[in-house]
Amino acid sequence: MDMNAYSIAQLVADLKAIRAQAKDEREILNRARPLARRAALAKDSWLEPRMYEADPEQGFGVHLLHEEPDHTLAIFAVSWLPGRGTPPHDHGTWAVVAGVDGPELNRFFERVDDRSRPGHAEVKKSGEKVFGVGDVVAMPTGGIHVVWNESDQVSVSLHIYGKHINFTGRSQYDPEKQTETPFVVATT
Ligand SMILES: [Fe+2]
Repeated sequence: MDMNAYSIAQLVADLKAIRAQAKDEREILNRARPLARRAALAKDSWLEPRMYEADPEQGFGVHLLHEEPDHTLAIFAVSWLPGRGTPPHDHGTWAVVAGVDGPELNRFFERVDDRSRPGHAEVKKSGEKVFGVGDVVAMPTGGIHVVWNESDQVSVSLHIYGKHINFTGRSQYDPEKQTETPFVVATT
């Protein structure tokens, strides 16, 4: 028996227990963090070659591994083509992301306008960091970031969200045009 094995089904069971016990989102994030790392490092338990496939149009591939019937507790393997990534975006829910294969640059932003004009948004870069295998990014609802694959190989990361990101009404941001628009991704 592989003592390091950790299946997506086990991860889901552990996340459900956390969700039932946690008093707030912060506690969910803190407790989900080590589980995401454990699952990322146990990739032999669940990672399949098809999860390296990416949509050339959007620059990445979003492979659904789990969601509850009400779209909560959504887990994805996301593959990133070399030199590709996302626009600045939020998730409309909490997010915990762990590196599985290859480095991924995360660039973080803060929203600085007063949200008084629909469709208008001003975001300011607040930091950046490269996350490697087993490294975890945990973001509360409202956190904004860019993910970019600066390497010359497809990278893969494990993404856990409070709710499936196409059902949260989340946004993408254009820092130059100062716009906020819906961000829906193609999934498999
Ligand atoms: Fe994201």
